[in-house]
Amino acid sequence: MFVDGTLGAGGVTAALLERVRPGGRVIAIDRDPAALAGARRRLAAAGDSLILVHGDFADLSEHLAQLGIAAVDGVTLDLGISSLQLDDPARGFGFRHDGPLDMRMDPTAGTLTAADIVNGWGEAELAALIRRYGEERFARGIAAAVVRARREHPLTATGELRETVERAVPRRYWPKRIHPATKTFQALRIEVNHELESLERGLQAAIDALRPGGRVGVIAFHSLEDTLVKNALHVAALNCVCPPQQPICTCAHRATLFLHTRKAIKADAAELAANPRSRSARLRVAERLDTGL
Ligand SMILES: C[S@@+](CC[C@H](N)C(=O)[O-])C[C@H]1O[C@@H](n2cnc3c(N)ncnc32)[C@H](O)[C@@H]1O
Repeated sequence: MFVDGTLGAGGVTAALLERVRPGGRVIAIDRDPAALAGARRRLAAAGDSLILVHGDFADLSEHLAQLGIAAVDGVTLDLGISSLQLDDPARGFGFRHDGPLDMRMDPTAGTLTAADIVNGWGEAELAALIRRYGEERFARGIAAAVVRARREHPLTATGELRETVERAVPRRYWPKRIHPATKTFQALRIEVNHELESLERGLQAAIDALRPGGRVGVIAFHSLEDTLVKNALHVAALNCVCPPQQPICTCAHRATLFLHTRKAIKADAAELAANPRSRSARLRVAERLDTGL
């Protein structure tokens, strides 16, 4: 299927590699050394058809240049965190089991942890973060509760933060489908890993790297990601971005993409039954046009 394509490390399977054309390669980029180690173990037989790269997909252009690859046939961005990360208490992404408030996807690169934010940021900054990246209506109350709690001692464990949030959100407002701390944890994780900045840069780099006819697919897991992807793909599919009231087009903007999905694709019933975590996944796909560039 791919001559050259890029994908995260955890998502590469032996079945996918079998569909790679002879001589073709899959480049799997992941920030998480543990995801790469797992892929290396699982796919030891892949040989030259799989290239594992440790890094941020925001730097896709640089990674491809280093590999001497000018263009690719496909890019898949499978966003957010993996089950491997979420279910490992030592990584600090989840709150079902107690662990350190870390949340770095790449513990070898970034030094900022969730504990640094929770214990170091001012109350107003914390509230703004939890509202912006968590879309949490009780952000102010949660930030105030965090500041109160840390006066006793710094919050260093996921369980302490979970309990602090539980106390800050009135029981009658607890959401039905998710834990009341889910959105706060999401906000911290996005900030620690600069997830939205990486997505913006990575998506543009992916569009730039595609050959005509090549496709980019993005799987988003929450509305902030999906809105960013939807808008970026939409703009890349427009032939003009002049204000609507302007009678004549003066912009030099030309469409580089054709949208295959006007509406995002969601998991069907069979997939939901096999993989309940797919319930929030939204897939959007677009194809690179031949713009003569
Ligand atoms: C949703 S998971 C992929 C799960 C994979 N499909 C599987 O089935 O195991 C997202 C993966 O992308 C990685 N990741 C997230 N943002 C990244 C970025 N900006 N650059 C590189 N890797 C990133 C995470 O470390 C994680 O391993």
